[in-house]
Amino acid sequence: QPALEYEERIHKFPGVDLSIREFSSHQLNANLLWPGTFFFADWLVKNPSILDGQRILELGSGTGALAIFLRKTFGVDITTSDYDDKDIEENIAHNCRVNKLDVLPHIRRKKNHVLIQCIVNVYTLGASDMHHPE
Ligand SMILES: C[S@@+](CC[C@H](N)C(=O)[O-])C[C@H]1O[C@@H](n2cnc3c(N)ncnc32)[C@H](O)[C@@H]1O
Repeated sequence: QPALEYEERIHKFPGVDLSIREFSSHQLNANLLWPGTFFFADWLVKNPSILDGQRILELGSGTGALAIFLRKTFGVDITTSDYDDKDIEENIAHNCRVNKLDVLPHIRRKKNHVLIQCIVNVYTLGASDMHHPE
């Protein structure tokens, strides 16, 4: 296996710039920060009451950018998740640290997490007509 390569960039979120490290490539799909994150962040800033008192499990966190934004901006109780993959988990932890956040709780989706698998499939299909950032 070749060593993983990363790119670290500043991304503009509503009211805050975050430094996010992305995989240059990754065998799974967790390499890039997807545009849906920015649409969802904008929407949540306009509809913050939906977050009140919630404990949130984010499915398919990728780089963890949205969860980091929500934790920093709203102080929400949020857990990240993605495939059962050490590199993804470590990258999210890295992204928490560089943005001066305690590392968020994280769940690796095991093969027997059938419900999570179903939800991720719906989510991924919904995202499939969106374009990757340049
Ligand atoms: C379209 S990407 C979006 C990543 C991130 N939410 C973003 O907006 O940048 C989908 C994410 O879901 C993860 N994923 C896809 N299928 C999965 C599965 N079956 N179990 C766990 N994670 C999955 C991928 O690894 C990837 O990080």
